[in-house]
Formats: sequence, structure tokens, C-alpha cells
Amino acid sequence: MFRRHRRLRENATIRSLVRETVLNSQDFIYPLFVVEGEKIKREISSLPNNYHWSLDRIPELIKDVTEAGVKGVMIFGIPDHKDEVGHSAYDENGIVQKAVRVIKKLAPELWIITDVCMCEYTSHGHCGIIVDKKVDNDETLKYISLTALSHVKAGADMVAPSDMMDGRVQAIRKKLDENGYKDVGIMAYSAKYSSAFYGPFREAADSAPQFGDRKGYQMDPANIREAMLEIEDDISEGADIIMVKPAISYLDVIRWARDKFNHPIAAYSVSGEFAMVKAAASLGVIDEKLIALEMLTSIKRAGADIIITYYAIDAARWLTQS
Ligand code: PBG
Repeated sequence: MFRRHRRLRENATIRSLVRETVLNSQDFIYPLFVVEGEKIKREISSLPNNYHWSLDRIPELIKDVTEAGVKGVMIFGIPDHKDEVGHSAYDENGIVQKAVRVIKKLAPELWIITDVCMCEYTSHGHCGIIVDKKVDNDETLKYISLTALSHVKAGADMVAPSDMMDGRVQAIRKKLDENGYKDVGIMAYSAKYSSAFYGPFREAADSAPQFGDRKGYQMDPANIREAMLEIEDDISEGADIIMVKPAISYLDVIRWARDKFNHPIAAYSVSGEFAMVKAAASLGVIDEKLIALEMLTSIKRAGADIIITYYAIDAARWLTQS
């Protein structure tokens, strides 16, 4: 006697009845890049079909996002001005703050998350404040929490610190609470690895470090137990949603986190993951749609509740077409 597994694979109907993981448009968050200026919709060469948007043109994008059924966006800003301490990161008229106000007005129901980090705003491209040639943890906390507060004041629904300083979740939580924003949540980039998969993003966001690397604050790709400590601490400091980033090479980390913690998990399928699929598809060696949906399914199967992906709009459309 042997089991006839194939009975449940016979046709599309029975396969759909026994399917364990089903993707839908509500799973996705779309990362978007805003720039100063006017009439700008400029394709990001490292991220095909993703654009730098000026605020007067952002309605086109928001229409696509909402019509596709995507429920949330994550905003990244590229400022005109950078300096040592990233002043424009926490300027109430900074590019992200203005974008939040514009998008909130266009689509009040859309969930707006802002990436909170210094690297796009500092002249040295590091995620924090430099003291004695090092990114100073505690000094950075002041700037990170000010930045988070300014995003929330502009109307952000949730803030997502990506700097990997220790204690940032606590510092942000305290700052928001003191200012009357007890109900605004934090999505913490908890297990954020020092990854080569961020390459295309750094071109998109003009945020590559001008000296050294981020290994002193982002995690070593070889470690998983350490990721659990990071997550545990972020939860105890007040994170509402935890994140694992990147996604595809870190499915084990997502699964461990799913088994150990009960908080919602976001997984960020980063720029390099997207760019590799695009590059292979343009060479004609893979089927873009099938590969992208298979990758997204695997991220959800591993345990992610939310997937941040440059495929958000396309994938949402593919899912409703099929
Ligand atoms: C900012 C930040 C980065 C990403 C998200 N937020 C870059 C980095 O840490 O260097 C990467 C996103 C992607 O690659 O898609 N710190």
C-alpha cells in the first residue's frame, strides 16, 4: 500500500481546495520613492518599473496602488540637501513629511508607513550620527525619534525604523507617547541584515555609505539566534509589528520568528531580490510573473503576514486577473 498524493493534485479545483497558502493583494506593502521638484516620474535604473516621484505626479501612482487593491505604502524620501546630521530627515517640510500629507489627502484609507532612517539625509550616507568616525548609537536615538515624531505629526499611520541602533524602538515609543501619539504604531526592522541585496536600493535612494560599511550596526547574515534576541528586545521596547529583511535568503529567520513570537511579521523582499528577477526575465531565462508569485508565496508560507515588495502593484493585479 502507498498513499496516492496525486489524487489531490488532479485538477485546478481540488488543488485550490487543499492549498495551504494563498496570496492576496492585502498582503502587500508598496515601497515608494519621493523627490523634490516638479513633473518628475523618473524610472530608477536599478529598479525597473519603479520611479522617483515628485509630489505633483504622485496621484498617478496612488491611483494604481489603490486600484490594484494594495492597502499600504512605505515612503522613502530623497532630499535635496544632505548634511552631517541629516537635518532634512526631521524637517516638518521635508520631502517625506510633505509626501505623507499629500498621500493622506489623496487616499485617506491607505495605510502610510514611513521608513525612519538617516542614511538618505546624511552627507556620509550612514544610518546615524558620526562621533569619532563611528556611528554613535545613543546620539543617533535623538535624531531617529525626532524624525519619527515629525512623520507622525505629518499624518503617518505607522513608523518603521530601519537604522538598527539599539534602543530605537523604546526611544521612538517614548517620544510618540510624550507627544500624544499613543495610538500610532511601530513596525520595527528587527532582524535587518547587513546585506548585499540592498545594492539597487542604495542607488535608488542615493544612500550608499561614503566610507566603511554598515556591518557595525546591521546584522551578520550568518546569525539567526541573534535575530531572535533583536526581535525579543524590539517587542519588549514596544514594537507592534516585527520585520525580517531581506526575505528570500532569510526564510528560515521568518519561520523561526513565526514559531517563537505571536506578533505580526513583516518581511521585506528587498531591491536586490526584485532586480535579480527583472534581470533574469529581461534575458528571457525565467517567467517573471510565475517566479515573482512563487517567491512571494514562499515568503508567506515561511510565516510572513505582510510582504513589503516592489512587486506589490504587479502581483496584486496578477492575482486578480488569474
Ligand atoms: C535604510 C534602508 C535600506 C533599505 C531600506 N531602508 C538600505 C540600507 O540599509 O542600506 C533597503 C531596501 C531595499 O534594498 O529594497 N537604512
